[in-house]
Amino acid sequence: MSASVETAANAARTAPAAVIVAIDGPSGTGKSSTSKAVAARLGLSYLDTGAQYRAMTWWMISNGVDVRDGAAVATAATKPVIISGTDPAAPTITVDGVDAAGPIRTQEVTSQVSAVSAVPEVRTIVTELQRSIAAAAERGIVVEGRDIGTTVLPDADLKIFLTASPEARAARRSGELTGREATDVAATREALIKRDAADSSRKTSPLAKADDAVEVDTSDLTLEQVIECVVTLVEEKRAAR
Ligand code: DC
Repeated sequence: MSASVETAANAARTAPAAVIVAIDGPSGTGKSSTSKAVAARLGLSYLDTGAQYRAMTWWMISNGVDVRDGAAVATAATKPVIISGTDPAAPTITVDGVDAAGPIRTQEVTSQVSAVSAVPEVRTIVTELQRSIAAAAERGIVVEGRDIGTTVLPDADLKIFLTASPEARAARRSGELTGREATDVAATREALIKRDAADSSRKTSPLAKADDAVEVDTSDLTLEQVIECVVTLVEEKRAAR
């Protein structure tokens, strides 16, 4: 065996095979913080699929598309170019080359994203994008969303479904908000429940736990405990291969 072939063979033996981790659940369960931290700790890429649906929604609003008109949204959905940067330490998202990280978090987008993400043509386009990003992640990736374990990456090595009580979720979400919105936990709770109901009841790939997902209730756990739990599960999967 030549030296370079031997080196490549050794590298293949020592480098862990790419691992695909799907983390699903409703908002306010600690999904984003957990997913980013797990990816960073294990040297994996990270993809926030909610950000992609938000980016699509922001583009629709910015381009005068009525998000209640499913046919108009479906027709326009091929137009925006959405690019996600997958470094967990600094994830990015651009739409048509413009940084969308700020605008996609506005209340205007949050209140309309469920309508846009329920359109089947939107889901087809975004799902394809997500699969191509996951396939390109050489060391593996943590993908967070609502339908990753059930629809986007049904063959993921590990599927996690995070849950938490409505009270815990509303309290966390309020803590992330600023100004007047932050003080109104009750209103945040109502908005969360409404969005979850829409996301869970839509016809195309609703928010759902995959049969083979591990459910983790984060209500009484610290973020560090949730991260530790998921890291351990990934390491166990890797060791079993
Ligand atoms: O995680 P988030 O709150 O940023 O997600 C925004 C919306 O996008 C959420 O209301 C549902 C939708 N979404 C989805 O339908 N499928 C995904 N895989 C991720 C998010």
